Formats: sequence, structure tokens, C-alpha cells
Amino acid sequence: MVDVATTSPELLTVRDLRKAFGAVVATNGVHIGVRAGEIHALIGPNGAGKSTLIAQICGEQRPDSGQILLDGRDVTHTPAFARARLGLGRSFQITELFAEYTAADNVLLSLLLKTGRAFQAWSNPRSDARLVEQAMVRLTQVGLAERANARVGDLAHGEKRQLELAVALAREPRVLLLDEPMAGMGPEESARMTDQLKAIKGQYGMLLVEHDMDAVFTLADRITVLVYGKTIFTGTPGQVREHPEVRAAYLGDGEC
Ligand SMILES: Nc1ncnc2c1ncn2[C@@H]1O[C@H](COP(=O)(O)OP(=O)(O)O)[C@@H](O)[C@H]1O
Ligand SMILES: [Mg+2]
Repeated sequence: MVDVATTSPELLTVRDLRKAFGAVVATNGVHIGVRAGEIHALIGPNGAGKSTLIAQICGEQRPDSGQILLDGRDVTHTPAFARARLGLGRSFQITELFAEYTAADNVLLSLLLKTGRAFQAWSNPRSDARLVEQAMVRLTQVGLAERANARVGDLAHGEKRQLELAVALAREPRVLLLDEPMAGMGPEESARMTDQLKAIKGQYGMLLVEHDMDAVFTLADRITVLVYGKTIFTGTPGQVREHPEVRAAYLGDGEC
């Protein structure tokens, strides 16, 4: 097996990133990299700064200092939409789908946004066979093909999270930021999502924030541990399991 964690080029590089909210230093000198095809998991207790890091990487929040590189290109001050165009995709921690529309429509909208055709009000995307086919490819990729015509409001929680992933994949990202894709899922839904992420693994570089340790240790090539805004360790799942400081700070008490 090719070891993507050490051999493939780094697509996303975060260097010494800092951000404070008043007295709270949410990101306190974070270093992390995501290689092509790698799943790099980011774990840490609640309030460690995981979501704030993701928000800075995708351009929703502005860091106080530090650098974010995409494919070696400095995007620290690049607007979010331009980062998305450069291949940065994300799936949200809070579900942001159009509840009145079908699963397929939500993916179609994402495809339209990607091609910049969203404002051609006179053309009906549902009658564009090629677009519909592309939407179905994405739904199939996340195991939702059979629910294509279901209204989002009628989908189960786990199915909504799968759909969010399909919406993100429709933009053809090279780096995918996933902030707690298993949040609120039961064990069966989590296992299904883990299988789907495993199935697409290798096609994208992924930064995976997740509390579900079964999923993290199954999927990750590397794991970075974040505590109080600092990255305290990066290593393989085996190294993370054995690291005394990590065990004490994070894994030992069983709380994440
Ligand atoms: N917009 C904000 N304004 C003020 N404080 C914030 C804001 N966002 C996050 N924080 C604080 O930053 C810290 C990190 O939060 P967050 O990134 O959400 O952590 P995590 O995702 O690891 O649970 C917390 O102390 C949180 O209260
Ligand atoms: Mg969070």
C-alpha cells in the first residue's frame, strides 16, 4: 500500500495560524498539512478551536497572523468564494440545505454554482440531462441515489449529512474540510458514513474533524491533536494511541 501520509504532495498547508476572540486564543500557533489523497483527522476536546481553524482555512474568518497555502499558493487573504474555486470544499457542521427541495435539486444547485449558471433563470436545470446525470453520480457516491427525489425535509438526519457531502463533492474539490460529519448520528449511520468516506478516500485530501474515535482511527492516515488552540501532536493513529501526553490530555478520560 502506498503511504499517502508521507509520499504525496501537500495540498493544504497551515503555518503558525493565530486567532483570538478577545481574551480567548482560539487558534494559538497551529501547524497542519493535508496531502493529496490523505485523510488527516483533527481531534481535540470541545472548545479546542477545531471549528475556528476550519473557518479560517475556508476563508469565513480572518486569522490574526500565520499563513494558509493551497497547492503552495498563499490564500491567507483570498476570499472564501475564490478559495472554493481553487479547490477547497467544505461540509458544514450545521446542516445548510434547502429543505423544500429534493436531494437531487440540492446537488443540481451546487453544480450550477460551480459552473456559474445559477442565474440563468430561463433554463430549467432539471431538464438538462447531463447535469441531472452528474447530480446522480454524486448522490450515488454517497449512497443516496434511491432518495434522489425525496424532499430534504423528509430525509433522516444521517441522510442529510450524506447529502451535504454530495453537495460538497459536486463542486469537485481537491481538499475537503469535514467538520463533524458524524455529529448527531447513531452508530449505524456513523458506520455508513465511515464506509462512504472510505470509498472516496484517495480522491481528495481530507481534513476531518470528528469526535467519533472509531471513525477517526478507521479512516485517518494521520491525526493531529489540538488542545486549547495548540497542535500538540501529529502522527499516525498508532503513534497517537501510544503518545502519553495525548492519552492524558485527551484519550484517557474517554471524553472528546
Ligand atoms: N465567533 C466567536 N466569538 C467569540 N469566541 C468564539 C467564537 N468562535 C469560537 N469562539 C471560542 O473559541 C474557542 C474555540 O471554539 P471552536 O473553534 O468552536 O472549538 P471546537 O470546534 O474545537 O469545539 C472557544 O472557547 C469558543 O468559545
Ligand atoms: Mg466545533
